Amino acid sequence: MEESRLFSAEELAQIREDLDREGKKLVFTNGCFDLLHVGHTRYLSDAARLGDFLAIGVNSDASVRSLKGPLRPINMENDRAEVLCSLRSVSAACIFGEPRATNLIRAIKPHIYVKGGDYTVDSLDLDERAALDEVGAEVKILPLAPARSTSLTLKRLQGGPTRIPRRPIRLGVLGSGTGSNFQAILDAIDNQRLHAKVELVLSDMPDADILKIAKRHGIPASHVDPGENPSRLADHAQEEIRGRLLVAGVDLVILAGFMRVIKSPIISVFKNRILNIHPSLLPRHRGRAAWKQALDAGDKEAGATVHHVIEAIDAGEIVSQQAVPVLEDDTPETLLERIHTVEHVILPSAIAEVGYALLATEEAESSKL
Ligand code: GAR
Repeated sequence: MEESRLFSAEELAQIREDLDREGKKLVFTNGCFDLLHVGHTRYLSDAARLGDFLAIGVNSDASVRSLKGPLRPINMENDRAEVLCSLRSVSAACIFGEPRATNLIRAIKPHIYVKGGDYTVDSLDLDERAALDEVGAEVKILPLAPARSTSLTLKRLQGGPTRIPRRPIRLGVLGSGTGSNFQAILDAIDNQRLHAKVELVLSDMPDADILKIAKRHGIPASHVDPGENPSRLADHAQEEIRGRLLVAGVDLVILAGFMRVIKSPIISVFKNRILNIHPSLLPRHRGRAAWKQALDAGDKEAGATVHHVIEAIDAGEIVSQQAVPVLEDDTPETLLERIHTVEHVILPSAIAEVGYALLATEEAESSKL
């Protein structure tokens, strides 16, 4: 273990005093750092660049348990601290026992305090905020790398639910376009990576390829007149889609490139049972042509997200997300092609994850009867 870089609060307080005399700055951040991933390493490099010495408060095992539940941490506190201390950006680590780093902040008096972009200055814990004000620390919020988190890593490691349900998940698929994601669902079913059956395909576009693919596979497919407005789905269309999905008895509704907004008549009946695939790393770039938005913004990476559908657009809980790099010479077309490749992987596995869990609950309920 890099003993030399694991310090007590008192030692860090002394280091801070020494740095101060030299006109240098101590940067402090804290966290669990349970399974180190690139989101952490980028964040820590950015944090280190803000000053001269980066010290990390590492939540003890007991404090991780109190924050994240009995199954965490995965790695013990000394191991987590050792991994962190082996990073070039990290000057020191200090293990602390409370859920919050408030006491450590008071003891060390960092010049700069850094938090990840899932916080705003206003959403910081009030005691922590008071301690930061008290010691005169400057607060910096750094953006987090999208699609990199310990919980997503854990989900991937678990490979989704392992228990395949007795009956296939019944799917209703809505799409407006070429249907490559729909084809990926059919391929996953054929290859037995997904125990599902597509009961119905609906499209707002009369000539959409997705309808043709469905018909070639003998799957009931039809056009629903969306109404006059080119971007909305008229009330009568919402009612018609809801009715058809109900008659088909689908478990899950999949928006596979459906370019109109569905509303409460459908959402309320299929609550937590509608998934959408979106070509960006949500919450970045909601709305249309999201991959072009990523290119225009000069993003270094783009990606795809499968999320639950709620009334707010592209905003429901994320089920799965995967990043792709944006290359120097990318055009919108080359980037979209790369995004499609990951969409075709994450959509079937997200359907399995949500659908198997749904059917497992149903099977458990019916065995109680
Ligand atoms: C997909 O890239 C999907 O992410 C996007 O439409 C495309 C459909 O392609 N959906 C959205 O932009 C929804 N906001 P496909 O018809 O070949 O599956």
